Amino acid sequence: MSGRRPLVAGNWKMNGTRENLAEIEALKAGLGDSSCDVAICPPATLITEAVARTGGSQLMIGGQDCHAEANGAHTGDLAAEMIADAGGALVIVGHSERRADHGESDALVRAKAEAGWRAGLLVILCIGETEAEYRAGETLAVIDRQLAGSVPNGATPGNLVIAYEPVWAIGTGLTPSNDDIQASHAHIRQRLVARFGQGGVAIRVLYGGSVKPANAGEILPLPDVDGALVGGASLKAADFLAIVAAA
Ligand code: 13P
Repeated sequence: MSGRRPLVAGNWKMNGTRENLAEIEALKAGLGDSSCDVAICPPATLITEAVARTGGSQLMIGGQDCHAEANGAHTGDLAAEMIADAGGALVIVGHSERRADHGESDALVRAKAEAGWRAGLLVILCIGETEAEYRAGETLAVIDRQLAGSVPNGATPGNLVIAYEPVWAIGTGLTPSNDDIQASHAHIRQRLVARFGQGGVAIRVLYGGSVKPANAGEILPLPDVDGALVGGASLKAADFLAIVAAA
């Protein structure tokens, strides 16, 4: 990880009601003095209460998406400023489920990342190829296209984290080989350095897609992997803590 402080972030997606806040409390209790950054992005309805229950701990709470605008006539949407107002410290943008389910383009993801910065949030920006693109050998080309189109100018290690999540690895139990994960991360790192210089060296690049306690010990030590974005295994504190321990 070359001096970069690891980040392990949980994305609860559309899972969780108030009773699941007990998992966040168990997570807070189990973290102790972990030497990595840890975050949970619950559904928006739980952000305020999750923040209230994690106050004073190192566990950060965040949103899963935001609108590009700060306010206005956008029924059902959430502004980055609202996530910050609820006590959130970060926001995920460009998740492949948003890109696929809501047709989000690279340009829109870029605008959302800028909205996150405007609100003072750390932005976790997701990229990754589909199964068809993977089979066609287009992984690195997709990474290049999404980085160029989605990442705004002005990225720094303090405001941006990239999450590389191959779409075919999400929720499937499949993962790329360790060599392929390292190669993709090294490629992302090279692109970040080319664009942002020294800052690019320190911007964290997380791996996401079927990260579990059973494989975290192999994936997280890879040289250009700076942590994980975890879906299913973040819903249970015990599983998530095991992944944090591997980081
Ligand atoms: P899973 O860990 O459930 O595969 O989900 C990964 C993901 O999409 C995190 O954003």
